[in-house]
Amino acid sequence: MTLSQDHLPIKAPLSGASYSAVELAPENDRVWMLEQRELPDHERYLEMTDVATIEAGIRDMVVRGAPAIGIAAAYGMVLAAGACRQGDQAYLRALQDAGALLKGARPTAVNLAWAIDEMLALAAKHASADPASRVEQMASRARDIHRADVEACRTMGKLGAERVPDGATILTHCNAGALATGGYGTALGVIRAAHEAGKKVKVLADETRPYLQGARLTSWELHRDGIPVEVITDNMAAHFFQRGEISLAVVGSDRIARNGDVANKIGTYGVACLARLHDRPFYVAAPWSTVDMKCASGEAIPIEQRASREVTVIAGKSFAPDGVNARYPGFDVTPARLVSAIFTERGAVDPVCEDSMQRLAR
Ligand code: MRU
Repeated sequence: MTLSQDHLPIKAPLSGASYSAVELAPENDRVWMLEQRELPDHERYLEMTDVATIEAGIRDMVVRGAPAIGIAAAYGMVLAAGACRQGDQAYLRALQDAGALLKGARPTAVNLAWAIDEMLALAAKHASADPASRVEQMASRARDIHRADVEACRTMGKLGAERVPDGATILTHCNAGALATGGYGTALGVIRAAHEAGKKVKVLADETRPYLQGARLTSWELHRDGIPVEVITDNMAAHFFQRGEISLAVVGSDRIARNGDVANKIGTYGVACLARLHDRPFYVAAPWSTVDMKCASGEAIPIEQRASREVTVIAGKSFAPDGVNARYPGFDVTPARLVSAIFTERGAVDPVCEDSMQRLAR
């Protein structure tokens, strides 16, 4: 079932914004996802009532962005709890199966597994309670995860904004905004906070081939908020760095290893190299749920490989000869030494190294 904006079921999204990547219905029996593949043309919500549909929504990128897919998965676990009338072991098994399905949807963003594990920990505690109370508790925990993410974005946004000079031109890659989180955004949270503090900032948004998160989503969000934004194709960034037009770069992340290596949308590493070459800061903003202290370095981060056709086919037309495949690693890893600082709700990781990460982990 699909809902247009007129039917927008979320009168009060948890973030307080006028749109939301994902919300749980007040009755705890449905999830609404903003159909991000149709932005900026249509603002349309999909209604989902079971875990399999939530999993498909995450895998097919109706919802995307590490924190947002974690929240969507948490809401999926609420639906799984609602679908199970049995108690104890049968309930736990049903939820573990749902969790395993959801975890397999996208491998790089650690927020997904983190949110599911949080929900499973709660399920283990209340497996023998009555079904209605189990759903209530799961819904309350999932909404807490959502609210905490918005709060974290605001905190890291303020922290990051302190490093943004008045008059800055900021390069960002992909979409690490309200659409990619519970609301407000990580990298775009830093930009929003700088704007709200009265700084005159403008943004260059990398188009972000092939899914065009920058052209379609980042520009949509910022334009809506009245923050000046221009889209550039990914291969223009070097030119604008060379001309001295870029003051700093800020991006989000899907997983940060213990040594400070950062996985983010494919193309991010190139931005970091350019920033270093041109002596400009390269910042990362991410909630602590994106940090994977079990992962020693970027080499251990699983990189999602997506389908060839997502690169070769644009708006239904193929741009490569039949029989030629494309490569599509969804993410790359920026080594810690290229990252000037990481902003989290726990504070800034600066310098970016294992000692600083351990200090905030405690
Ligand atoms: O493939 P996507 O669109 O899910 O990739 C998203 C990103 O790379 C974001 O920068 C990252 O998830 C951080 S979102 C706050």
